[in-house]
Amino acid sequence: MTFDDQEYLNRYPFIDKVLISSEEIQLRVRQLGNEISNDYKDSVPILVCILKGAYPFLADLTRCLSVDHEVDFMAVSSYDGGTQSTGVVKIEKDLKSNITNRDVILVEDIIDTGLTIDNLIDLLKTRNPRSIRVAAVVDKKIARKKDVPLHYIGFEIPNEFVIGYGLDYDEKYRNLPFIGIMKA
Ligand code: IMP
Repeated sequence: MTFDDQEYLNRYPFIDKVLISSEEIQLRVRQLGNEISNDYKDSVPILVCILKGAYPFLADLTRCLSVDHEVDFMAVSSYDGGTQSTGVVKIEKDLKSNITNRDVILVEDIIDTGLTIDNLIDLLKTRNPRSIRVAAVVDKKIARKKDVPLHYIGFEIPNEFVIGYGLDYDEKYRNLPFIGIMKA
């Protein structure tokens, strides 16, 4: 854990513990960046940041890429400010890019039930991209309701509600540099 992580813990006493430290995250993101750079040597992929939670990951990940790429943003909602997925995905903000015949990498914060990403992939497939892959910081595999192929995963985590590194509770705590668990 870094000094910064400890500072945040002191400031937010309701955080029970750090699950993944900022150092671990940064190291893993660099590895994923290398993997993606290797896989897309002959292409200019579009990295689609799924707002709001994926913004820190997109920013860190793209700075670790050694291949040309573009970024775009999309907002979908499946949670209602609480901790349970509604299972209904609503497009709140659509892409500006035309993804037809393009290689798309969906950049997500977390895959939980898998319902959001599964619906989103189905929707984007109708626009005929050349390929769609998924990159996510964390995978809560045990909570999965839909089997979705994931290509670039930072960490597998237990079935706990987590905050930080883009992940919110009631729109707060996205700014934490680590991923933590709140006190019950
Ligand atoms: P899914 O549809 O259940 O896979 O959920 C996807 C979305 O739910 C993510 O993009 C997050 O915004 C949110 N989410 C799921 N689990 C958590 C969590 O533990 N903390 C914060 N947000 C979460």
